[in-house]
Amino acid sequence: MLRWIVFAIIYVVLGLYTLQALKTAIRYPWVHYFFIVIAVLVLGNFVYQFTWGAEDGRVLSRPKSYAFGFMITVFTFQVITILFLFSEDIFRVISGLTQKFTGNAKEFSLPERRRFMSILGLGIAALPFGALLYGMYKGKYKFQVLKYALEFDDLPDAFDGYQITQLSDIHSGSLDNRKKIEYAVDLINKQQSDVILFTGDLVNNMATEMEPWMELFSTLEAKDGKFSVLGNHDYGDYVDWETEAIKRQNLEDLKVIQRDIGFDLMLNENRYLKKDDDKIALIGVENWGRGGFKKAGDLKKATASIDKNDFKILLSHDPSHWEDVVLDDDLHYHLTLSGHTHGMQFGIEIPGWVKWSPAKWRYKYWAGIYKEKGQFINVNRGLGFLGYPGRVGIWPEISVITLKKKALT
Ligand SMILES: [Fe+2]
Repeated sequence: MLRWIVFAIIYVVLGLYTLQALKTAIRYPWVHYFFIVIAVLVLGNFVYQFTWGAEDGRVLSRPKSYAFGFMITVFTFQVITILFLFSEDIFRVISGLTQKFTGNAKEFSLPERRRFMSILGLGIAALPFGALLYGMYKGKYKFQVLKYALEFDDLPDAFDGYQITQLSDIHSGSLDNRKKIEYAVDLINKQQSDVILFTGDLVNNMATEMEPWMELFSTLEAKDGKFSVLGNHDYGDYVDWETEAIKRQNLEDLKVIQRDIGFDLMLNENRYLKKDDDKIALIGVENWGRGGFKKAGDLKKATASIDKNDFKILLSHDPSHWEDVVLDDDLHYHLTLSGHTHGMQFGIEIPGWVKWSPAKWRYKYWAGIYKEKGQFINVNRGLGFLGYPGRVGIWPEISVITLKKKALT
């Protein structure tokens, strides 16, 4: 209760401060009232959804995630506006004090706010405000097919030109637009890859989230099959279960769902993809994440029957596994496929120019292809979304990777 009161007070204070900018910049009172009404509704809905209105315990339901999305949208608008007002206010106080102590004015008085500063602040704050709304309305379904060609000296000949589609982080419990997901599934099939590899987080918390989507996802097609691993969200660790048995059953149900939609789920196991007389190894580990994340991934077990000279593709949900374990393993993993970061669903990317997201403060390898110690990783930005129910600048991704044999020169 106390934290809600503290939060509401901070929010109201920021709101009143922001209102000063609106009053300075815009003379029509209805605009001021409009802002107050929106700010109060967003706060009220947020508090309601996360307290009395929450019937489902720790589950981040759709109404909750939207309440959260609108809250951070308004909050960002307020904070950015205030950055401008506050810097102006520091200047106003200094100027007021100087006037008084130099004897130019008898009483201490603050200079007026300049209309220009308020307009500038509001104008700049309107950009992320609009972007965050756009991200919830459209951005989360702005699917991107990212194509890569990776070269290897030791790729078996028959696999030169072999094409992989990687999907990650579907988070089916968040999906709320059937047409858009049908479009995405169709877009994936249009890539006509030899194999589809899914790197985990099929659901947010519960296997049942996948039920409305099973039929659709079972239409995903690839000549050599569909393979998958589990992500941290697939274990149901983030919700309360009545008993341990129910939680265990949930994971068993999820495994059955994976099979029913045609995914060959690898739990610290491996498979071989064969072509002509050649083969490459596909290795799938359970989730392994740095810090508080589940560490069920077992490379040793997964590769027990693998020859060190095999060409290896590893599926591991969390890229911190690559950094902390895979790169230092005795075996050489030619290509690792990960997801997990979602690129925080927020950032700016202009290929060859800018690549920024708050995700990079947390994960060294947070989106796209990286190469270390002669080994590649692709960190997929994810197909779905979680938490903030939108995406801005880091769009939902379908990775298409072509393996190439390096030409001898
Ligand atoms: Fe995820």
